[in-house]
Amino acid sequence: MITNAIGERVLLNDGNQIPQLGLGVWRANDGEETYQAVRWALEAGYRSIDTASLYANEASVGKAFHDSELSREEVFITTKVWNPDQGYDKTLAAFEKSLKLLDLEYVDMYLAHYPVTGKYLDTWKALERLQEEKLVRSIGVSNFHIHHLETLLAHANVKPVVNQIELHPYLSQKALIAYHKEHDILTEAWAPIAKGRVLGEDIIVELSEKYGKTPAQIVLRWELQQGIIIIPKSVHQKRIQENCNIYDFALTEEEMKRIDTLECDGRIGTDPDKMVYDD
Ligand SMILES: NC(=O)c1ccc[n+]([C@@H]2O[C@H](COP(=O)([O-])OP(=O)(O)OC[C@H]3O[C@@H](n4cnc5c(N)ncnc54)[C@H](OP(=O)(O)O)[C@@H]3O)[C@@H](O)[C@H]2O)c1
Repeated sequence: MITNAIGERVLLNDGNQIPQLGLGVWRANDGEETYQAVRWALEAGYRSIDTASLYANEASVGKAFHDSELSREEVFITTKVWNPDQGYDKTLAAFEKSLKLLDLEYVDMYLAHYPVTGKYLDTWKALERLQEEKLVRSIGVSNFHIHHLETLLAHANVKPVVNQIELHPYLSQKALIAYHKEHDILTEAWAPIAKGRVLGEDIIVELSEKYGKTPAQIVLRWELQQGIIIIPKSVHQKRIQENCNIYDFALTEEEMKRIDTLECDGRIGTDPDKMVYDD
């Protein structure tokens, strides 16, 4: 499944649809910086925004959406429950806070940010309840390994629609992607351009010259063609426009495979199994 135009949606396992491309806002400051980035993204044609309570910028995301004059149905908004807020009651309370900050009546997708040991099954029960109450349209997870998904699937009433994971050419996550496919879960990539670190690689630069595209566009296209949902972050208008201008060329199978060879288990973030979860 690959979309052909910015804003185009892919089908989730619960029947809802999510744009394959969105704007990420991690480390975008609350206030003018996030507000402006979201406004520019919506103007450029993005129809999905990925925030989290951790990012402390939900209010600016909500304000930018409201000022955009786009209808609620047109824009897909994701937020996440942060680690210390996990567990059943705390997740419900955290969600209420997020919804208020976003100034929305419902959230399109709510994710468990990490598989917090001893808590993520209770968190999931809370997400199922929020979906039942129609406060959330779709529920999913983030940073889950296969073993977390196995445990979750053994206990859940509702399957996660996505697993949002670190994914880029240095960490291509082939085994996890295969598991997702087997279970009808979509893969969503965070740090899709490896926070810029992969952009100087010879193969990326070579393809960028061949296609007259930027290195970031080559990497994002490599993900798009795998059917992965991408949420590149930028607070600069030029880059926001650049990152969505990836629908007018296609990499060949051979070029896709050459980018695959950059895999080096190059994780930037903390391995979810090594994460320390404080109460
Ligand atoms: N679920 C999770 O645990 C988790 C973890 C991390 C991130 N995320 C989500 O995923 C989103 C994306 O991940 P990320 O922000 O970590 O990394 P990323 O999107 O791979 O990279 C963002 C960095 O690259 C720069 N950049 C953006 N476009 C560029 C371009 N065209 N050329 C060169 N540099 C460019 C940005 O700088 P400027 O802003 O200065 O342009 C920023 O420093 C986040 O914003 C967040 O929504 C989720």
